[in-house]
Amino acid sequence: MKFFIDTANLDQIKEAQDLGILDGVTTNPSLMAKEGITGEENIKKHYQKICEIVDGDVSAEVISTTYQEMIKEGKALAKLHEQIVVKVPMIKDGVKAIKYFSDNRIKTNCTLVFSAGQALLAAKAGATYVSPFIGRLDDISTDGLSLIQEIRLIYDNYGFATQILAASVRHTMHVIDCAKIGADVMTGPLSSIEGLLKHPLTDIGLEKFLADFKKGNQK
Ligand code: G3P
Repeated sequence: MKFFIDTANLDQIKEAQDLGILDGVTTNPSLMAKEGITGEENIKKHYQKICEIVDGDVSAEVISTTYQEMIKEGKALAKLHEQIVVKVPMIKDGVKAIKYFSDNRIKTNCTLVFSAGQALLAAKAGATYVSPFIGRLDDISTDGLSLIQEIRLIYDNYGFATQILAASVRHTMHVIDCAKIGADVMTGPLSSIEGLLKHPLTDIGLEKFLADFKKGNQK
């Protein structure tokens, strides 16, 4: 399972990269705005900075909504760095754009996916990744994890190569449940990854080992 971090915050990306378990980064226009990164040139520079920190795929989202514009914008984003994956929304022109990028060996991440049908279309178009938003489904009393299960079944039935990127992961249990179901990738905040570390018995056990060592080695 690949771990991506879902942020445009460079300090958090560095921290996850330093942990040695990071496989990539996802961003979106809201995450860029949250970091105060505005304007086309600044946004492009920020993507480059992210690519320099992380060894892996970095999703950069198009803000165009028509086929021609998405192709132009996506090509420019892909040229920024070899690690860039063009993130395209699940709309009709987006599906056409994904097919174009796939035919031209540009990696894509189909975003804003909320149904199995949308995920099937993304795979048919040749998306590298499909991003079902599990947290936002949970927010409206719909089981986000069931969607991951449905997509896993459909992709396995036909051997689609599109990777299931569980997105809108909000907490550590989402990460564990996605791993049980067999999501290929999860993207979430640093806290969802760091939560995996925690167990009180680990802390109690370590404290006792260190205390016993100290006792045994006192002169
Ligand atoms: O990767 C998609 C993600 O950024 C959406 O997360 O928490 O805004 O629903 P959230």
